[in-house]
Amino acid sequence: MLTFVKPTSAYQEKALEYIQEFYQYHSNINGVGGLNRYLEDYDGWLTKLERDRNQPVTEERVPGETYFLVREEDDRIVGMINIRLALNEKLKEYGGHIGYSIRPTERGKGYNKVNLYLGLKVCQQHGIEEVFMDCDKDNPASARTMLALGGKLIREYYSKRDDGIVQDYVIDVNQSLEKYAAIYEPMVTYPPTTDQKEVR
Ligand SMILES: CC(C)(COP(=O)(O)OP(=O)(O)OC[C@H]1O[C@@H](n2cnc3c(N)ncnc32)[C@H](O)[C@@H]1OP(=O)(O)O)[C@@H](O)C(=O)NCCC(=O)NCCS
Repeated sequence: MLTFVKPTSAYQEKALEYIQEFYQYHSNINGVGGLNRYLEDYDGWLTKLERDRNQPVTEERVPGETYFLVREEDDRIVGMINIRLALNEKLKEYGGHIGYSIRPTERGKGYNKVNLYLGLKVCQQHGIEEVFMDCDKDNPASARTMLALGGKLIREYYSKRDDGIVQDYVIDVNQSLEKYAAIYEPMVTYPPTTDQKEVR
């Protein structure tokens, strides 16, 4: 079972170890909300995430949320996701709503499809109906994650910035969540609501 966990100080060690694994395996880092720039200042990163959440939309920045994808069985961070709750012109052009990653030692197990499914749930809660995402054409694991959740390829272009072909996808959030719930709901759990916590 997999679940989204909001980063807290309790996960400091596990979060830093998550990033270290990417360096160890020389892997691209994506969807970590800038954690790789705060390795010496985890508390500062938590403060940054709080700022990100309340960030008004500007030409430079948009509000966003970052989650750990945690495997309940051993409380291991297996993935991360960064969800932009609005798009400015820059993100419409490049980057889109969602960045994500799965740690190198946990790839190829279908975890990123669950990551995106839960990410789309967050988008739905924020009233986002269409999610725009992009990936390099030579990143089939990312492209196939989007396709598996009903993503449609809308554009392919050469990017000077990446020196390669970039693909843009769109996902109809409500349609996707309805269509794929039967597959992914049995694999996920949700944190208790505040009310439930009070009852306990
Ligand atoms: C992209 C990434 C998140 C995929 O994570 P993952 O957990 O391995 O993905 P999943 O196991 O959920 O697989 C998703 C789909 O990709 C396919 N896939 C997985 N690894 C693959 C590979 N190496 N080559 C081709 N397809 C692959 C899976 O078969 C699945 O497709 P299917 O449902 O059609 O069978 C991971 O490779 C990663 O963190 N990469 C570095 C960061 C990154 O590139 N982020 C995306 C930026 S756009």
